[in-house]
Amino acid sequence: MRSPKPLVEIVSTGRWLPDRVLTNADLEKMVDTDDQWIVERTGIRERRIAPCTIGAGEMGAGASRVAMDRAGVHPGEIDLIVTATATPDRLLPATACDIQARLGASHAAAFDISAACSGFIYALSIAEGYLAAGRGDIALVVSTEKMSGIIDWDDRATCVLFGDGAGAAIVRRSTNGRGILSSFIRSDGTLAQLLWRPAGGVLEPMTEERLAAKDHLLRMAGREVFKAAVRSMAEASDQALARAGLTGDDIDLFIPHQANLRIIEATARYASVPMEKVYVNVDRYGNMSSATIPIALDEAIEQGRIKPGANVLMVAFGAGFTWASSVVRW
Ligand code: ACO
Repeated sequence: MRSPKPLVEIVSTGRWLPDRVLTNADLEKMVDTDDQWIVERTGIRERRIAPCTIGAGEMGAGASRVAMDRAGVHPGEIDLIVTATATPDRLLPATACDIQARLGASHAAAFDISAACSGFIYALSIAEGYLAAGRGDIALVVSTEKMSGIIDWDDRATCVLFGDGAGAAIVRRSTNGRGILSSFIRSDGTLAQLLWRPAGGVLEPMTEERLAAKDHLLRMAGREVFKAAVRSMAEASDQALARAGLTGDDIDLFIPHQANLRIIEATARYASVPMEKVYVNVDRYGNMSSATIPIALDEAIEQGRIKPGANVLMVAFGAGFTWASSVVRW
């Protein structure tokens, strides 16, 4: 008989956010939009923008150092660095390797995963499997997103939605009954063109024409993405709860991906979690892709909203399409 899989826990978290705040009023001066439209449709009031000299690697290393300090983990103790990013510093090599070098994590394997806004839960699920299999003792999961670098700042339909930030977590096998109770990850590549960057890879390399057409920047069919997000996050909530043997009533804090307040409200309603148990910071940061969940987690812990023994449900949806969920007992 197979012995039960060891539980893997999040020991600590950290976040890195740029100082510069870009408000809806600032955006009114850049494109044809207004604060009322943005707040009513998305719930976003402001977002953070990183300086052009700072990349995803530096941002991710900043969040990682905070998580490592809190866990008392030294760089040489880290066995694995999984970095989720839709905004890598370069196409090659992985941003995870830059983070590894910045931290001096000399014994760590490091690689990126590309799962867009679902990236943190995907990366956590990979680290969980690696540690549960006994392949290492300590993993660092980092989500780092410089969305400002892939946005068309002339396109009002997308530029108002996104912001920059990074979040990190130190993960290890648990000895105290706390940990990841369930993980669920899924994808549907048939809908890729609803949310993508059309050019810049080997199939459609950058040319002067593609650059002029801004085909290297993010394109999104907002309404279709909205519907798919609500549908998929509902499925993901169901799956994470069922796999953990819990219901919405058992959840102490719900941390959905922060893309749009209306999507968050619809997902919480579906999972039967009241809004007072839902963590929301999309108003302050906008959509930071994979970084929204670890940053929200870090803030919630700091604010005392996650107590020992609490059940936390995390759910995300993003480009790919990808969607994912997890229940963690704190
Ligand atoms: N300011 C003012 N008007 C605007 C703006 C703006 N910033 N943007 C669009 N509009 C206009 C449109 O041009 C359109 O005008 P029209 O009716 O005259 O043609 C009108 O507003 C309605 O546009 P829609 O796109 O239909 O608006 P919708 O209600 O769908 O809201 C939104 C748009 C907020 C983008 C919404 O669709 C959404 O949140 N989608 C999901 C985004 C998401 O969840 N992404 C997650 C994954 S992101 C990732 O993986 C990287």
